[in-house]
Amino acid sequence: MEEQLNKLVSDCTAQISSAANRKELSDIKVRVLGKSGELTALLRNLKDLPSEERPEAGKHMNIARAALEEKFAEKFASLREEEVAARLASEKIDITIDKPKRDIGCLHPLSSVRNRIIDFFVSLGFIVTDSPEIETDYYNFEALNTPADHPARDVQDTFYITDHILLRSQTSTGQIRTMEKIKPPIKMISPGRVYRSDDIDATHSPMFHQIEGLVVDKNITMCDLKGILDMFAQYFFGEQCKTRFRPSYFPFTEPSVEVDATCNHCHGSGCRVCKGTGWIEILGAGMVNRNVLSGCGIDPDEYTGFAFGMGLDRITNIIHKTDMRAVFENDIRFLKQFK
Ligand code: PHE
Repeated sequence: MEEQLNKLVSDCTAQISSAANRKELSDIKVRVLGKSGELTALLRNLKDLPSEERPEAGKHMNIARAALEEKFAEKFASLREEEVAARLASEKIDITIDKPKRDIGCLHPLSSVRNRIIDFFVSLGFIVTDSPEIETDYYNFEALNTPADHPARDVQDTFYITDHILLRSQTSTGQIRTMEKIKPPIKMISPGRVYRSDDIDATHSPMFHQIEGLVVDKNITMCDLKGILDMFAQYFFGEQCKTRFRPSYFPFTEPSVEVDATCNHCHGSGCRVCKGTGWIEILGAGMVNRNVLSGCGIDPDEYTGFAFGMGLDRITNIIHKTDMRAVFENDIRFLKQFK
């Protein structure tokens, strides 16, 4: 039996060391140490030995079993390491390899100009609101003090969906929607798309963008409007930029003004962009009409406010010397210039 044991141990040791992978190794282990394995069978035969030899033989077998188990464990560990190393080597990524360059896009010029404008007003504590593009005539006209016979209501100018539903022609609708929801003090801007029944040319488009502004509080005066717009013009066009107010008319503001900034291309001396005047019109504005405030449930004797509305496309076209068609055609060669 002693001989059988020694042979088994040396055969098994040889097999362990030549096992190529963990599966092969565990097959060997089952064959030798498993329930019906070779060593287990030898152990069972112990009972055939004379009783005085049994303890000694049993001891040898247990030592042999423990030694083999240790060898299996060592080999398992080293095979595992080899397999992991082989896998790591096969999965290695060569990060030095050349690959085709990918084009990174950029914001549309309208988006980046809009974002810059929003950043300025947000830094002064204005909130940014959104309002629907499909509106009722109440929000687009009536609540904005625009009487039924006003020319802007004409189908020549406004796209109607039904008699009372239309595509908003101005973001001033956002003034009403805001004043219905929040009470003064109010400081908000509202950017968005507007629609007018115009043919497309260098300065017109049936769809364009505006940014509305509204401030309502106690003791708001036209000086506040002028102060904020001066700051805005300097932030946007540069410190040398000046603004001027020209009297104008909007049904929902009284008094109303059109605001010009010194031309950012010639700084006032006159060039093609400003058609030789040195000034460019940037927005319409005014003090919120009393009727508009009271229509929204705000007491015009207690509160005053100003509003302004600027054409985003217009401002973008001025600073980039482009025109409406280029801005809306989405020609990649044109858009790529704004990286
Ligand atoms: N809504 C006006 C327009 O579209 C601009 C404006 C806004 C004027 C707010 C005054 C106050 O022309």
